[in-house]
Amino acid sequence: MANKSKFQAIRGTRDLLPPDTALWNRVEQTAHELFTTYGFGEIRPPIFEPTDLFARAVGGDTDIVGKEMYTFPDHNLRDLEAALYPICNPAIDLDDPKDLMALVADLRVFLEQFAVHQKQDEVPKTSENASAVARLHTLAEKIDSLRLAAEDMDLMSWHALFQEVSAAAKEIRLGDMVSLRPEATASVCRAYIEHNMQQLPQPVKLYYMGPMFRRERPQKGRYRQFYQIGAEILGGPDAPAIDAELIEMLMTFFDKCGLQGTELSINSIGHAADNCRRGYVAKLREELLKVKDKLGADSQRRIETNPLRVLDSKLEHEQPIIATLPRIADHLCDECRAHYAAVKHNLDLRGVAYRENWRLVRGLDYYMRTTFEITAQGLGSQNAVCGGGRYDGLVELLGGPPTKGIGFAIGEDRLILSLQEGGKMLAARGPDVLIAWMGQNAYATAIRAAKTLRNAGFRVELPATELKFGKALERASKLGSRFALILGDNEIQSGEWTLKNLATSEQQKLSEQALLEYLRG
Ligand code: HAM
Repeated sequence: MANKSKFQAIRGTRDLLPPDTALWNRVEQTAHELFTTYGFGEIRPPIFEPTDLFARAVGGDTDIVGKEMYTFPDHNLRDLEAALYPICNPAIDLDDPKDLMALVADLRVFLEQFAVHQKQDEVPKTSENASAVARLHTLAEKIDSLRLAAEDMDLMSWHALFQEVSAAAKEIRLGDMVSLRPEATASVCRAYIEHNMQQLPQPVKLYYMGPMFRRERPQKGRYRQFYQIGAEILGGPDAPAIDAELIEMLMTFFDKCGLQGTELSINSIGHAADNCRRGYVAKLREELLKVKDKLGADSQRRIETNPLRVLDSKLEHEQPIIATLPRIADHLCDECRAHYAAVKHNLDLRGVAYRENWRLVRGLDYYMRTTFEITAQGLGSQNAVCGGGRYDGLVELLGGPPTKGIGFAIGEDRLILSLQEGGKMLAARGPDVLIAWMGQNAYATAIRAAKTLRNAGFRVELPATELKFGKALERASKLGSRFALILGDNEIQSGEWTLKNLATSEQQKLSEQALLEYLRG
């Protein structure tokens, strides 16, 4: 029997529906218009990219890369995949020699098929694949020779051998690993390099909007497919005014959207040098080790992996401990301290209000110097509507020339939520006119009238089937239409159409031309 269970949007994803989508469009339109006035152009990078791009840019130890990306091998080799499966997951009864034979046979089949696809350039020619295949060949021969020699191997040794086969098989990649983008800064830097944008007048200012994907635990304001509006400035001089102007644009954008209760926090996390952040991190680790026993498991782990992230902790009992830790502002090198002071001065010049937050370290590896975050009201625990910062060095890390960089990304879902909580809804708008047509004669005129009115920019509802007069008016009022245009035999003969105002019930006769003028007025 056919499975009739209903489909639902996947957990953490959702449909954006009218009338909400009107608000989404207005927010996006505001970004297009405002960002253009600051000299930004739009970039639309792909939604998936090589996994390595994000791993290198965002950082292998970050939550995003470590556990939140949607990653898959990009190939269409179903036969090879099916052949690989039994050797990755050998279901072997060690007492049964037939099973042993089967495994060796499976292994041979896979290796033969792999060789065929490799010849046709259909599998990635990586050193990892080459060494895994070489190991599988060796293991196949070893199993064969052991079997032929009918040596008495104990079960444990066979078991270990199968594990070796399985481990080598799991190293094989049938396609290049790709990931749905968890963010877009890495893509923008990749595009900057790929299109030689360093040859354009610098800095290059780009903005983007679209879906991002992170496998996080869904909750209010946190989704697995979410939307960002972001902007990046690449290249150009070492000028703190660039940081300040970008932040000014961001705050102007929120203002134009009507977002309430925004708070801008800023910090400087210096640069990776012993006399700057590296020195600070060493000192921080030292201090954290002294209080390790009092910290939660996550923070304890981070003392080793990334002590800065301990500062992000929201655990209540860790707060008084964190308050006593050394602060990065006291450990910045002279250049980074001067840069931070100049950013603040430039924000003051622009009248941008900010709060300094020495604990603002951000969760992506590429940041240096300026970091910032904006929170808004009505969002509960997920109240960051925007995060950003400077990332000089990222373009170089991805294989490009030394290039300065700074940018931000706004969480559009959260922005919309906060606007809606603040009462900024766009009411559902019904049609301007519903055309109540009666009779086939009138239908041809109704089609023409609908076209003319839509061309003039009016929202028109043209019923696809003939409705009785009462039913047509009922439909018009259900849809919230402002007017009903009534077209029957009389109207067609006289050329005078009847327009009914549905709010006042007033009716009037108008020629086609007069109707347009009346509606425009
Ligand atoms: P991020 O802080 O990871 O930074 O994300 C920026 C914003 O995206 C967050 O402040 C939040 O509003 C929103 N966001 C993140 N994850 C989710 C989620 N699961 N559901 C809903 N909204 C979310 C970046 O992505 C950097 N690329 C920003 C940047 C651009 N830095 C420099 N240039």
